[in-house]
Amino acid sequence: MIELRSVGKTYADGTVAVADFSLIAPSHRTVALVGSSGSGKTTLLRMVNRMIEPTSGTVLIDEKDVRTLDRVALRRSIGYVPQAGGLLPHRTVLDNVATVPILNGTRKSTARRAALGLLERVGLDPSLGKRYPAQLSGGQQQRVAVARALATEPNILLMDEPFGAVDPIVRRELQDELIRLQADLGKTIVLVTHDVDEAFRLADEVVVLRSGGLTAQTGSPEEILADPADDFVREFVGADRADRRLRTKQVGGQSLVVDGRGKLLGVLS
Ligand SMILES: Nc1ncnc2c1ncn2[C@@H]1O[C@H](COP(=O)(O)OP(=O)(O)OP(=O)(O)O)[C@@H](O)[C@H]1O
Ligand SMILES: [Mg+2]
Repeated sequence: MIELRSVGKTYADGTVAVADFSLIAPSHRTVALVGSSGSGKTTLLRMVNRMIEPTSGTVLIDEKDVRTLDRVALRRSIGYVPQAGGLLPHRTVLDNVATVPILNGTRKSTARRAALGLLERVGLDPSLGKRYPAQLSGGQQQRVAVARALATEPNILLMDEPFGAVDPIVRRELQDELIRLQADLGKTIVLVTHDVDEAFRLADEVVVLRSGGLTAQTGSPEEILADPADDFVREFVGADRADRRLRTKQVGGQSLVVDGRGKLLGVLS
């Protein structure tokens, strides 16, 4: 379980990135932080593995204040997929995945073998392990970043817009892959995205942020869509969007489901 207890972050230049934020992310669940650009999502995520130290409040993992834990050990024990993939350009794909386990003391041969398995796990052909990141497509690079984050077998996975840089079709594939992985592995995932549909697909719990890291609403996707806390949330999650306003239409004794524009989506069973 991850707890952010009344955390705040004011950067050195006086920017208040996060005013006062609290969250409990239960173990083995996926929590998504959604909000527009600059709302403090990355700042909050990086507080969990102490890449950023809050200026107020406390972060706890399994009820332990992270300030009492060794910073390097903590960072290596948590899987982190940074906003821009963050692969090392001069190392092969395999070495990118195996590096942190080796730093942690795993034998090279063991770490490399495990890395091959991880590539398969995220849907990549292990033969790609020999390539350098620039020799992969954007979607493949994102998969490598996920494999690397899983390499230390962390309980916690922090993902910052992990599928941001790919086209919608690949994005959807990567989301499906993550849903499958999570069903298998049951990690505690904190996912940052500005895409509400992604948050609704992937997360058990969604936190909608206003600027300044203020919570507009926290709840399951169902709760948020069924009862948006205010106009900001309603607008942000597109509660009134045509593709969310579904209705049925009777044709030939069947109930067809159509969206707000009348576009056919399927048959009600
Ligand atoms: N090192 C820094 N110094 C000063 N201000 C910063 C620093 N890092 C971030 N900020 C500011 O803090 C606020 C929150 O930034 P953050 O990166 O957490 O936002 P975000 O929600 O992740 O945005 P995006 O969706 O664009 O990635 C922004 O106003 C940003 O300009
Ligand atoms: Mg960010």
